[in-house]
Amino acid sequence: PVKEALSLAWVTLSDKGARVQREDGSGPLIEALVREKYELAYARGYIIPDEELQLRQLITNLALHQKFDLILTTGGTGVAPRDVTPEATLKVIDRRLRGIEQAMMAASLKKTPHAVISRAVAGTLGTSLIVNMPGSTKAVAENLEAVLSAFGHTIAKLQ
Ligand code: MTE
Repeated sequence: PVKEALSLAWVTLSDKGARVQREDGSGPLIEALVREKYELAYARGYIIPDEELQLRQLITNLALHQKFDLILTTGGTGVAPRDVTPEATLKVIDRRLRGIEQAMMAASLKKTPHAVISRAVAGTLGTSLIVNMPGSTKAVAENLEAVLSAFGHTIAKLQ
């Protein structure tokens, strides 16, 4: 079945953002871009520090208990010592979606050679689609543009 309206949870990984030391635009941008393409039943945003256990627990809760259709993370995909988003995501997903990862990487490499640094993971848990994206608003816009149109069909197949 094709869903009438999707539920979206975005999660910003940011030690600084979680301590409210800076305004973080990437989460709200995710929500605005998804809204341009899909009808949203509801959306909720979270800003948490770069803590692997906290992210694992949040993704598991959002997917298996709250049953969000779409869980999009931003930040923590690189190689800085505190970047743990891919590790947390890999430990909780049921099935990996390498096509989404590769589509984002291919599109990103056309924008910047620094794209190689992102280790963003995509996959499914229960009936949720989970996709990591880098932290900057520029990276969010470029990565989402590459895969957003496939989200509706993916989520429909998960039902
Ligand atoms: N991908 C796109 N499309 N555009 C970008 O500007 N920035 C890169 C990369 N991927 C970027 C991108 C950079 S500079 C880094 S360090 C990595 O994403 C990881 O970012 P993160 O640690 O904020 O997740």
